[in-house]
Amino acid sequence: MKVKRGVITGIIGPNGAGKSTALKTMYGFLTPSRGTVNLKGERVNGLTPSQMVARGVSFVPQNRSLFNDLSVEDNLHLGCWHFRRDRARVSRAMDRVYEMFPVLRDKARDLAGTMSGGQQRFLELARSMVLEPEIVLLDEPTAMIAPKLSRELYDFIATLPEHGVTVVLVDQNVRQCAAVSDHIYVLDLGATRAEGSSEDFGDDEDLKAMIQEWLDYEID
Ligand SMILES: Nc1ncnc2c1ncn2[C@@H]1O[C@H](COP(=O)(O)OP(=O)(O)O)[C@@H](O)[C@H]1O
Ligand SMILES: [Mg+2]
Repeated sequence: MKVKRGVITGIIGPNGAGKSTALKTMYGFLTPSRGTVNLKGERVNGLTPSQMVARGVSFVPQNRSLFNDLSVEDNLHLGCWHFRRDRARVSRAMDRVYEMFPVLRDKARDLAGTMSGGQQRFLELARSMVLEPEIVLLDEPTAMIAPKLSRELYDFIATLPEHGVTVVLVDQNVRQCAAVSDHIYVLDLGATRAEGSSEDFGDDEDLKAMIQEWLDYEID
């Protein structure tokens, strides 16, 4: 799998295909038993997540990852952990993230756990942004989220390349993922079954049929 700088690369595939495993391996939560993970020419197999963070990679996992009993602001502060001793950078990062997500400023003192599911996803995204990452790995950011907030989340994700952020996006929703991705990988049973641009995915009837069968999902 290759991830191009400055665009969104999508990973789709049925449940259990290995999408989350692929992201966790890129981020260093898991060490591959075979193969390598390279970042800008550097082999990064076996590096820890915190070492990946130091290299500008951030990760929003599929399972909820907020500290529910901490405030919105404290959750964001935890995203600054890697550079916590640099006060100036922390305050810059916080200002910047509140500018990107104004609604979080109003809720800064609220406990994270009291927000709606969609708002919590926004907070997780925001927390990954305080790092000013070069690459973000997003695992099903809109799963189980109401359609309106889901669209807002996607609108935000679609702007990330303009902010200089490279995105790896895992989603079950093929159409949604294809609409924002420059290139797509289809995973099944831990292997890449197909790949191509989103246009390829729009035109290739066999591919569409295959994806439809796997995902039990209507593509139009
Ligand atoms: N390349 C692989 N080789 C062996 N097992 C894998 C591989 N990728 C994933 N798995 C296993 O398959 C299961 C489902 O993987 P997961 O990444 O959660 O799938 P998905 O996110 O696509 O639903 C996990 O138990 C994982 O350990
Ligand atoms: Mg998964």
